[in-house]
Amino acid sequence: MPKPIPSFDVLIIGSGASGLSLALRLADQGYQIAVLSKVALSEGSTLYAQGGVSAVLDAQDSLESHIQDTLIAGAGLCRPETVRLVVSHGKECIDWLLDRGVPFTEVQSEDGSVQLHLTREGGHTHRRVVHAADATGRAIETSLEKHARQHGNIKLYEHHNVVDLITEHKLGGVGNRVVGAYVLDSRRHFVVPMAAKIVALATGGACKAYLYTSNPDVSTGDGIALAWRAGARVANMEFIQFHPTCLYHPLARSFLITEALRGEGGRLLLPDGTPFMQRFDPRGELAPRDIVARAIDHEIKRLGIDCVYLDISHKPPEFVREHFPTIHAKLLELGIDMTSQPIPVVPAAHYTCGGVVTDLSARTDVPGLYAVGEVACTGLHGANRMASNSLLECLVFAKQAAEDIAACIEDAPSPPTLPPWDESKVSDSDEEVVVTHNWLELRRFMWDYVGIVRTNKRLQRALRRVELLKGEIAEYYGNFRVTSDLLELRNLVTVAELIIRSALQRKESRGLHFTLDYPETDDQQPPQDTLMTPAPPVANTREAESGG
Ligand code: FAD
Ligand code: SIN
Repeated sequence: MPKPIPSFDVLIIGSGASGLSLALRLADQGYQIAVLSKVALSEGSTLYAQGGVSAVLDAQDSLESHIQDTLIAGAGLCRPETVRLVVSHGKECIDWLLDRGVPFTEVQSEDGSVQLHLTREGGHTHRRVVHAADATGRAIETSLEKHARQHGNIKLYEHHNVVDLITEHKLGGVGNRVVGAYVLDSRRHFVVPMAAKIVALATGGACKAYLYTSNPDVSTGDGIALAWRAGARVANMEFIQFHPTCLYHPLARSFLITEALRGEGGRLLLPDGTPFMQRFDPRGELAPRDIVARAIDHEIKRLGIDCVYLDISHKPPEFVREHFPTIHAKLLELGIDMTSQPIPVVPAAHYTCGGVVTDLSARTDVPGLYAVGEVACTGLHGANRMASNSLLECLVFAKQAAEDIAACIEDAPSPPTLPPWDESKVSDSDEEVVVTHNWLELRRFMWDYVGIVRTNKRLQRALRRVELLKGEIAEYYGNFRVTSDLLELRNLVTVAELIIRSALQRKESRGLHFTLDYPETDDQQPPQDTLMTPAPPVANTREAESGG
């Protein structure tokens, strides 16, 4: 007897801030939800977020000021209606998190009342970053995880990696509504179909396309590639944000040193102790990230040094320990005492500003398919994301999507019977080395040729390599049983190509995209998004065979 195919009201792919808040909001209304996570539930960028969530809470601050700061950072490419929507829901979303027990850092004010402590980060003209010391993401993720695990309407699937979305078109129908997904149970090594009326991508970003990144291993751009293959447009992929200050240490991979450290007075220094940021921008250490990252890259290349230094040792040791306990402890493990020593830092790929195009309700081009969080391009970040606006976007768009889904789900068609995954024409791989080799090669050429400073020549070189890899990986995918590594590589190569083609399309420097061939921003014409439109979706061989 074949096992019945699991079927849900809503299938949410991803269990970070966006996936879990969407799941909880819908489950509270009685809908049956499945949440998929590629690895353990809590793993993802959310868990590692340090600085915090931006929201206008201070009496001296204003929504207009937050909106202006966001628009300035976005360098002409933000959608003003998205910025206004997100900023104006900041307080409501912080209250929603407080109701779920997130332990944000508090401070006693002069009149004795207790308020949330607000820190400051680059681009923000006010203190408006709500945080839980320097481990805000962990506080949010673990609180949401606790609620999700206890919720009777949420079924959690850990170690389940989505292979592809299933659309009516792929099943031979005329429409292109999403009806479910093929999912690899990576611990038991088989692929199952899962059906749903609505599917939401909450898969995070794509910075694993780069050799050096602050992101965890799951950030391989899967949702962007899944949506692209299903027929959704993707925008602004050239705007990859490089965080200026990741720890430079042989034993610490991907460890971020929060921008809040600069917000609290940390200074960037050359190895001889000279400050340098004022030479690049009057805002110094608190200039937007693209400027700080490029300044550091410039000094590293100019002087032939390995790293620069971030110093907060002029502040009292107890202040440093209280505000940055996680970073302090991590550095001590590595033999660096940040209360008395500067911290070696370098830039690394940190955030994917572009992604799957959505409207204000998080709907994508594919009927029934939503995208929430870093996977999406909502128009909030434009050409450069301002610090701590990302978690806010996850929370606000989860709310938007939940409201829209609740309003339309009763009219959504029930999914059809889904064909099983067909493995009759593939075998186990005899050359896993192809996957590891290609994975490394891709991440290295993306770092070398599609990094902080670009040129046409470097981008063309990267494009030639990505095209070769694409062919090899497609052949491999067609012949062998899928593994998580292969699925991620297949997605990474798609996303890398989208980044390179978008970068080639932009004939100017703007925000995070800087090219020596066009070093100025083109002010002659209105700024435009870089839109990538996929070819009409083709039936995946295995699904086509099994689906008849
Ligand atoms: P994630 O939290 O990355 O979650 C992605 C989820 O998708 C995971 O559960 C993963 O398993 C799942 N997934 C992915 N692909 C698949 C697949 N194929 N099948 C099944 N599941 C899949 N932003 C701020 O606003 N403030 C900060 O202070 C801040 N600090 C940061 C610090 C670090 C070190 C990093 C890396 C990022 C930081 N950011 C910060 C950015 C912010 O954390 C992320 O943009 C945000 O957490 C993304 O949340 P998400 O829910 O979209 O995705
Ligand atoms: C940080 O803490 O520096 C990261 C903040 C962000 O990426 O928004």
